[in-house]
Amino acid sequence: MDNTIQVSDLTQGYGRTTVLRDINLTLTPGTILALIGPSGAGKTTLVATIMGMLKPRQGTVTVLNTAVPNRPLLARIGYMAQTDALYDSLTGAENLQFFGTMQGLRRAAMPERIKYAAGVVNLQPDLKKPVQDYSGGMKRRLSLAIALLADPAVLILDEPTVGIDPELRQQIWHELHALAASGKTILLTTHVMEDAEQADTIMMIRNGEAIAQGTPAQLTAQYHVATVEAAFLQAGRDQDAHRRND
Ligand SMILES: Nc1ncnc2c1ncn2[C@@H]1O[C@H](COP(=O)(O)OP(=O)(O)OP(=O)(O)O)[C@@H](O)[C@H]1O
Ligand SMILES: [Mg+2]
Repeated sequence: MDNTIQVSDLTQGYGRTTVLRDINLTLTPGTILALIGPSGAGKTTLVATIMGMLKPRQGTVTVLNTAVPNRPLLARIGYMAQTDALYDSLTGAENLQFFGTMQGLRRAAMPERIKYAAGVVNLQPDLKKPVQDYSGGMKRRLSLAIALLADPAVLILDEPTVGIDPELRQQIWHELHALAASGKTILLTTHVMEDAEQADTIMMIRNGEAIAQGTPAQLTAQYHVATVEAAFLQAGRDQDAHRRND
């Protein structure tokens, strides 16, 4: 089976600064990968590179067997940026309409898709409010709904659960698992360990390096610890020790 996302020996950076080194990542159809790592580790940089917003400095990235950057490919990816890019003066419904049109959704399909996407994030009661009156969490939810609108094969979500309460988080995870079961491929970043534990595989990035990668069970076994959080902390200490010895 072809891989949905393949990152090979990627090095990435801005100007003279190197942010990511030798990143390798493979994501098969129907699987969920969580990217975790401290603030500034390079998660968003990796996501932006996979989206083709940054050209790989070294190495290659393919999505759906297409090398990025590739503009037509974007129509097949549902993307939620870390910073909400919404029209504040428009209502939630108008934002969904606008982005749905941008994504090439047919007018006839629009009401059904908006109903579905808003439903996943419980936003129906607030769709008529202008986005400038939304809370932070409501904006995140609207951004997630927009990513889901066009039923894309690939979802790339940069911190989708920020500002989302536990009950809704559970509902969103239920939907993400259902989407994965139907063959969608999902890559998300998070600082929340409970979210990481829901993923099929976890990739830990620290100081621009992939310090550990595996299923939650593999990671806890590898570090002889009970939780993914403990595995992550231990992997970080190992990286520090390794760097001191270099
Ligand atoms: N546009 C940019 N120009 C220059 N440096 C940048 C740019 N964007 C990010 N960086 C730097 O790259 C590094 C990684 O940033 P990145 O946003 O990828 O981290 P992150 O893991 O997503 O962090 P967070 O968890 O806070 O979102 C940081 O040192 C950051 O300062
Ligand atoms: Mg980020």
